[in-house]
Amino acid sequence: MSDRTMRSLSVDQLQIAPSILAADFRCLGDSVTAIAKGGADVIHIDIMDGHFVPNLSMGPAIVKAIRPLTSLPFDVHLMLSSPSRYVPAFVDAGADHITIHVESEGDLAATLREIHDAGCTAGITLRPGTPAISLAPYLPLVEMVLVMTVEPGFGGQSFMAAQLAKVREIKAMIQAVGRPIHLEVDGGIGAGNAGSVIAAGANVLVAGSSVYNAKGGAAAGISAIRAAVKS
Ligand code: DX5
Ligand code: ZN
Repeated sequence: MSDRTMRSLSVDQLQIAPSILAADFRCLGDSVTAIAKGGADVIHIDIMDGHFVPNLSMGPAIVKAIRPLTSLPFDVHLMLSSPSRYVPAFVDAGADHITIHVESEGDLAATLREIHDAGCTAGITLRPGTPAISLAPYLPLVEMVLVMTVEPGFGGQSFMAAQLAKVREIKAMIQAVGRPIHLEVDGGIGAGNAGSVIAAGANVLVAGSSVYNAKGGAAAGISAIRAAVKS
């Protein structure tokens, strides 16, 4: 099987990762196909347990159901208190990349190793209130860092511009590690702020509402972000 992990994408290029949390769940398959055919580079899939965050979203069965619809990388964002319990299920369902929160429970280094042993790339992420330094022990163990620009748990929230300083700080930490690591930003991202998050050092943009609620449809939403970054 060709490499569908984040290693298959350049850390020096813009990668757009629409979040299917904002999709129309009455026709989720069509919503996935719309972004896959509409210019997405990655499919961002938000998993919530109602404990780590006050919301429930979707599980491995949904990931398995949509897997045959596209060969784009599945970027699974685990907002779970105990991510290690669910890594095998999401790998079996078709995840290509799995990101865990630095605030979650368990031996995170072991969980990241487990993700790698399963053939996926691994990521670490943090809430807006968690300092960047908390990621330091995990940077050598990941292929992507995800910076939350909203409090995790819900789509459609407003972008927290104060997190841009953290994006810049983490970019510098990544550069000090000296190997390719994607810097992904997630929460309230759209054409209006894409340029500033790229300028701060991000290369992977998660966008849910701005893509799925775009006038003209998801492809137009993705194009608008690309155009904003180019301008
Ligand atoms: C929030 C999720 C985000 C969210 C993005 O907990 O991690 O991926 O779905 O959605 P928008 O782009 O609408 O903020
Ligand atoms: Zn997410």
